[in-house]
Amino acid sequence: MRAILTIKNLRKHFPVKNAWGTDVALVKALDGVDLKIEAGKTFGIVGESGCGKTTLMRTLLRLIEPTSGSVVISEEIIGDKVSSNNLEELTSQELRKFRRQIGVVFQDPMGALNPRMIIKDIVSEPLVIHGKTDNMRNRVIELLNNVGLGEEHLYRYPHEFSGGQRQRIVIARALALDPKILVLDEPTSALDVSVQAQILNLLNDLQKKYNLTYIFISHDLSVIEYMCDRLAVMYLGRVVEEANTEELFSNPQHPYTKALLSATPSFDKNKEKIMILGDVPSPITYLDESKAKLATEMTEQEKLEIKSIEGKGIEYIVRSSLNEVFPLVRISGEHYARKVK
Ligand SMILES: Nc1ncnc2c1ncn2[C@@H]1O[C@H](COP(=O)(O)OP(=O)(O)OP(=O)(O)O)[C@@H](O)[C@H]1O
Ligand SMILES: [Mg+2]
Repeated sequence: MRAILTIKNLRKHFPVKNAWGTDVALVKALDGVDLKIEAGKTFGIVGESGCGKTTLMRTLLRLIEPTSGSVVISEEIIGDKVSSNNLEELTSQELRKFRRQIGVVFQDPMGALNPRMIIKDIVSEPLVIHGKTDNMRNRVIELLNNVGLGEEHLYRYPHEFSGGQRQRIVIARALALDPKILVLDEPTSALDVSVQAQILNLLNDLQKKYNLTYIFISHDLSVIEYMCDRLAVMYLGRVVEEANTEELFSNPQHPYTKALLSATPSFDKNKEKIMILGDVPSPITYLDESKAKLATEMTEQEKLEIKSIEGKGIEYIVRSSLNEVFPLVRISGEHYARKVK
């Protein structure tokens, strides 16, 4: 396997302050994440809201500094004439070079596009910033053609486009500097299903054409199954399971993955649904030792919820049982999961 990026024990803890400005707790948005991203493939990251997906992406791009851990970049991205292949140790000039190699597509295409700029300027902005202004108009037209738009769109504003077209514009801009990696943070969740499919197909075509590596963040498992070669399931700042897509969908091991997969729509009427009971635990860890550990015993709320579904033959897991952290173990081949007793 040719790793284009290797993430090692990455942590990002945000401090929580009280009214006097003293640190009282930490939000452990990332709490020891290890991942290897393979070149030319699509790596998926799934997990519920707040589990740290966006923080992972922002730390990867070094838009925010990690608390600890490292990101190792392959020569393929940054060349061999650099001071280090460790992201944290790059000089500012090398960091600029690294950023050119990673395009980003954000969840909300309207928020990502400046409403006062015409498309020509939006798509050419990265070219201007990085001083690649030769033959710029033709390059912008080429980029628009790549995503199914054209010269006639150059002088229009973002509000004159449909949601799907806006996402195409964002993709065109993300590809402006010929990146090797595209990070896609929920690229289709703001779109309706038919448009979603068009964008996903476009992304697949572009990947083949330019041999791109995708990091694909989503909470929609059907999208993930369609797009990804391999994926990691995150829960509260940690990876709880990682495997190739087919293996993970056919043989999930961690209870959270099982519950997540059971919730995807399916034509199979006999498919077991697994309910997740209890409230999402707070990601905040108090610095005061006595409050620091997440409770692993069942809460009153969970007991009540179990009672309410008793006798209905519904399978369930309770949130509190997921709070205890087990080590990641190899299940088979390249399949890893945190085993719960
Ligand atoms: N700048 C920040 N300061 C403090 N806490 C933050 C900051 N950014 C994120 N967090 C917290 O870190 C946790 C992870 O947030 P993140 O945005 O990475 O989640 P996510 O998995 O992308 O969720 P979603 O699916 O809703 O986009 C959340 O509890 C969030 O409140
Ligand atoms: Mg997010």
